[in-house]
Amino acid sequence: MNNKQKREFGDFQTPIELARKVCSLLSQRGFRPATILEPSCGEGSFLQACLEHFTGVQSLVGIDINEEHVQAARTVAAAFAPTAASIKVMQADFFHLNWPSVLESMPQPILVIGNPPWITNAELGSLKSSNLPDKSNYHDYRGIDAITGKGNFDISEWLLNRAIEWIDGGEAVLAMLCKTSVARKALHYAWKRGQHIQSSDMYAVDALTYFGASVPACLLVVCSSASVRSYDCSVHDSIEEYGAEAAVFGLRERRLVASIPSFERWKHLEGEERYKWRSGIKHDCAKVMEFSKEKESYRNGFGELVDLEDTYLFPLLKSSDIANSHNPRPSRWMLVTQQVIGENTDQIRRLAPQTWKYLQQHADLLSRRASSVYHNRPKFSVFGVGDYSFAPWKVAISGFYKNLAFSVVGPHAGKPAVLDDTCYFLVCRTEDEAGFLARLVNSEIATDFFSAFIFWDHKRPITLDILRRLDLLRLAQELNVEEAMCKFLELYPKKSDQPMLFSQNVGVL
Ligand SMILES: C[S@@+](CC[C@H](N)C(=O)[O-])C[C@H]1O[C@@H](n2cnc3c(N)ncnc32)[C@H](O)[C@@H]1O
Repeated sequence: MNNKQKREFGDFQTPIELARKVCSLLSQRGFRPATILEPSCGEGSFLQACLEHFTGVQSLVGIDINEEHVQAARTVAAAFAPTAASIKVMQADFFHLNWPSVLESMPQPILVIGNPPWITNAELGSLKSSNLPDKSNYHDYRGIDAITGKGNFDISEWLLNRAIEWIDGGEAVLAMLCKTSVARKALHYAWKRGQHIQSSDMYAVDALTYFGASVPACLLVVCSSASVRSYDCSVHDSIEEYGAEAAVFGLRERRLVASIPSFERWKHLEGEERYKWRSGIKHDCAKVMEFSKEKESYRNGFGELVDLEDTYLFPLLKSSDIANSHNPRPSRWMLVTQQVIGENTDQIRRLAPQTWKYLQQHADLLSRRASSVYHNRPKFSVFGVGDYSFAPWKVAISGFYKNLAFSVVGPHAGKPAVLDDTCYFLVCRTEDEAGFLARLVNSEIATDFFSAFIFWDHKRPITLDILRRLDLLRLAQELNVEEAMCKFLELYPKKSDQPMLFSQNVGVL
C-alpha cells in the first residue's frame, strides 16, 4: 500500500501493546462484553486483545474495507480456536453497511471498539478519494452542521457519531482511539441530542509514540444506559492510570464547558461586555507590511532597506512579544494603510509619497492575498482596523499561546503600539486604567473563570467569544473594587464613546 492509500484509508494500525492497554483498562473497569464489534478492524489488534482479555464473549465481529487486512485479522482470530465465541471477520465498507440490522441480533452487553481512520473530508477531497459517506447519507442527516462545523469533518467523527447512536439506550460501551478534538465534538453532538449516556471518559494517548502523529489523541470510552443521562466527561492523563482523574468537562446551558468545577464557581460572572474586546490588525503579507527599524530606515521581510515616511508606520507587538513578557516592547513596525476598514487608500500618494511608491512596488504580492476580506476593498487594504487599533493604552493577550496572562501595552516612540490579528485587547485611555483592568483580568478569579471555557489543546485556545463572557463589573464587585471600576466606566457614558475617544486623543495621521 502506498502512502496516498495509507492516508486515504487512515491506515495506521494500532500496535498490539496499545490495544492490550485499552482492553486491560476496560476489564479493570469491570466491563464484561457478550459481543465485540470492531467496525474498522484492520489487521486485528483489537480483536486479538479482546479475545485475550474478555472471557464470556459470545460474538465477535470485525469489519474492514481492505481484503488483505481482513485475511490477516482472520488469521489472528483463528489462533484462538477453539473458542466459545462465534467469530466473523468480513470485508465491507462501514459507510454502506446497515448497522442497525447488524447490531439487532447481537447479545448485550456490546463493546464497540477500535480506531477509525483519522482523516478529514477536506483531506480526502484533495486526495480525490471517495472513501466518504454518501452525500445523501450525511447531507440529509439532521443536525449535520453540528457534526461538520464549517463543512469539514473527520471520518472518525462520522463513525463515532453513528456508533454512539447505535448503542443509545442499550447495555453497551464504546471505546475508540481518536483525536481529542474529535472525541469532544462527538460527545458534544451526542449530549446535544440527549442520547442516553451514563458516563464518558477520555484517557490521553501518546499519538506520537504509537502512530507517529503529533496531535492530541485519546481513548474515548462512552457507556450507554437505558435511563441515566450524564453530561460530564472525565479527562485522565494517561490510559495506564485507571482512576486518576485530571479534569471534568461537559455540556452546560447547551455549550461545551472545559472545566465544570470552574464553571460552577464563577458562572454568575457571565454577563455584559462592559469593555469591548478587540482583535489586532490583519494584513496577510508580513514580508511587505512588517519591518525592523535600522537607524532612520526600515528593513522589510525581503531584507530590503527602505525609506518610508513615519506617517503610516506603527510600533508592532506580535503574539510572541505579548506572550513572553509582562512588559512587552515592540519588536517590529507595521505599515497600517487605513484608520478604518474600507478607507480610501489613494490619499497615501499625497500624504506619504515614499510609502505609496513602496506599496506600488509590492502591489502584485498585496493583490494576491487570498483572504476574502480584501476582495472588493481599496488596494493595499488591511483588515480588523478601527480607531480602537490606535488606542494609546491596551490590555492585551495572545490567542495562540497556552498562557493566560494579560499585559499592559503602552505607546512607543510617541506612537500607539498596534497588535497583530493573533492578539486580543481592551482599549484604555490612560496607563492607570490599563493597569487597573490588567489587575482585574489577571486576578485568580478571572483566570479560573476563563479556564472554565478554554480547551488548551485547541490551535487558538483563547478566543474573543471566551473573553467576552466575563462581565468586568461583576468581577470588580467580586474583588471589592467596584467603585474604581465604576469611575472608569463613567468615562464612557455611551457604549459607542469608547473607541471614538482615541482618534481625537492620539491624532494618528
Ligand atoms: C486507523 S486504522 C485502524 C485499524 C484497526 N482498527 C486497528 O486499530 O489496528 C483504520 C482502518 O480503517 C479501515 N477503513 C478505512 N476506510 C474504511 C471503510 N470505508 N470501511 C471499512 N474500513 C475502512 C482501514 O482499512 C484501516 O484498517
